[in-house]
Amino acid sequence: MALHRLTRITIGVPNVEETAGYYTEFGLTEGTAEGGEGAGGRQFSTGDGGEQLTLVPTPRRRLVELRVGADDPDDIERVAASLAGLDLAVEKTATGVRTYDPGTEVSVVVEVAGRISQEDTPSPPYNTPGHLARPNTRAPGVLRETPVQPRKLGHVVLGSTDQEGSQRLFTEGLGFKISDTVPGLAAFMRCSTDHHNVLVQQAPVAFLHHTSWQVNDIDEVGRGATAMLEKDPARHVWGLGRHHVGSNFFWYLRDPAGNFSEYYSDLDCIVDDALWTPRTWEGMRGLYNWGPPPPASFLAPEDLAALMTGTHGGG
Ligand SMILES: [Fe+2]
Repeated sequence: MALHRLTRITIGVPNVEETAGYYTEFGLTEGTAEGGEGAGGRQFSTGDGGEQLTLVPTPRRRLVELRVGADDPDDIERVAASLAGLDLAVEKTATGVRTYDPGTEVSVVVEVAGRISQEDTPSPPYNTPGHLARPNTRAPGVLRETPVQPRKLGHVVLGSTDQEGSQRLFTEGLGFKISDTVPGLAAFMRCSTDHHNVLVQQAPVAFLHHTSWQVNDIDEVGRGATAMLEKDPARHVWGLGRHHVGSNFFWYLRDPAGNFSEYYSDLDCIVDDALWTPRTWEGMRGLYNWGPPPPASFLAPEDLAALMTGTHGGG
């Protein structure tokens, strides 16, 4: 019937071993390699999404592949026809269709896959003025001791040398919907009930800006990032804050290859398209509602020039 989630991503990095250690500390669970496109790479699972990250060796860091789950073969046929209509690559696979986005240099696969099912996770009790949700007890957020484990992959943000073309591939080609737009930046696109699953920015070189991983609540955003920074403070990029577009709490960290990874919670969800009105957000609202101001290195990662050199060098 429809697209329903991001299933998995493959990230290429020059330093697989070191980067694998980072994602293990980030809370992903390393598994054994299975067959298919991920073979030979290092596989990582989330709590609810199964195997969602593969790390493979590449000369420069980049998103190699992005996979999107669809309900049934009719969806694959529809996507294949739309891609062909846009003169984009169409390669049928056993379970789906593969295309290639020249702007982001990412191979995108839409495949028939099971929907994600997540247990109902109640909000923790918060005391508010006049409402004592947890009388005589300490907050669960300060009592937790287990390491934070992301529940699922939420979204990816990519730099594209052809933002319009990349966005057209995801919307007109694959059927992503636009939730909100920030002029001069990009549109927030969804293939699920999440406010956004993919965002493509114009950039001088194709690159992976960040991946984002869902955790239970704001305490898990804070606890997860704090634990990562205790091991290496240089991992800090931007946080803690709350985005305005999408509403999610966020904290961004940097992996050893230079990719940013985000812990997020409390993202807006769009269950009924008719009840959501996409808006255009100008200025800093496009970036955040509260928190420290974004560092320049978030807006333009410090290795962009090196990535461009790598591109010209054949990397
Ligand atoms: Fe994000």
